[in-house]
Amino acid sequence: MALDERRRYMGHRVAYSLLDVGEQPSAEQIRVFEDICFTLRLASGTFRTSFRNRFADVNAAVDGVLASRFEADTALSIQDRAVSHALTSAEWAGDLFRRFPQAHFEASDLLLHLVQLTEPDGGIYIAEPDGTILQAVREPFVVSVHHPEGRRFPLHRLVALRERRRIEKRNLPSGWADKDSQANLNTKTISLVHPEARALAASDSRFVVRKRSVFDIEAASCDVLRTMNILNWGYFSEEQLSSGVSAAWHSVRPGGVWVVGRTMEDDFRNNASLLRRNEDGWELLTRVGDGSELEALALAWSPGT
Ligand SMILES: C[S@@+](CC[C@H](N)C(=O)[O-])C[C@H]1O[C@@H](n2cnc3c(N)ncnc32)[C@H](O)[C@@H]1O
Repeated sequence: MALDERRRYMGHRVAYSLLDVGEQPSAEQIRVFEDICFTLRLASGTFRTSFRNRFADVNAAVDGVLASRFEADTALSIQDRAVSHALTSAEWAGDLFRRFPQAHFEASDLLLHLVQLTEPDGGIYIAEPDGTILQAVREPFVVSVHHPEGRRFPLHRLVALRERRRIEKRNLPSGWADKDSQANLNTKTISLVHPEARALAASDSRFVVRKRSVFDIEAASCDVLRTMNILNWGYFSEEQLSSGVSAAWHSVRPGGVWVVGRTMEDDFRNNASLLRRNEDGWELLTRVGDGSELEALALAWSPGT
């Protein structure tokens, strides 16, 4: 089996410290970075899954809609939210900037980095910025600390239990993983932004990567909003999804477009809906595949809801 086929099963067996690829990564380091992100699961239960060329059909559909609605010299404001490592944002931005040279592109996610804590005995913990430890690395083991190890791996379950106890005894101060923590620990930040997205942000001021929630409302701040593989029934309650629909409507300018959808896990097909913001809610412009699972909720929603 090729590595690409196996990667969804390798997941947390790979040390997340390998995500720290620096500014000039080799092709192999980039491949490892992408592989780890493919299966990385956050404490919230959401996955970081994203991959190269994932949205060619979605981008083509959006292109068609934008070409018919906006002049090439429009200073389009585009927001791509919950982007994981933002590689798909960088790919899309490259295409958009050729068509709309004055566009501005913001890629955002709730989580842009992890924190690595190296203990005096050489053990390593990888945590989210709020201090939740996801993984322990103590040779020869790499174990999941937050999410339980599978029953098929009794030895790893035992090691994970031992690590959890060790962490408990360690009694780390709250806020230890903050950037400005005074805890005096051996920590470093590991960027979760793909090197190619980081390079684009460094070389082109039209492209920025920032922290932002998909539920943020920044009133009428963009012409195009994309939220792919986040506003799913599997992740959120109906009430939360309605808040997502509302946040999207308030953030998109009148007449602007919201791209919402999901990639199927079995065959990587994209099902997305392109919606237009009207005064009284959303209107369907077109679909990719079967459309978004959120479409009915979005179309039934109105600003007074
Ligand atoms: C499955 S990935 C989707 C990545 C990308 N949109 C794609 O489809 O390739 C889901 C992402 O949502 C992010 N996320 C989870 N909750 C979020 C929230 N409330 N606001 C913004 N991003 C969130 C996670 O950090 C993760 O990177």
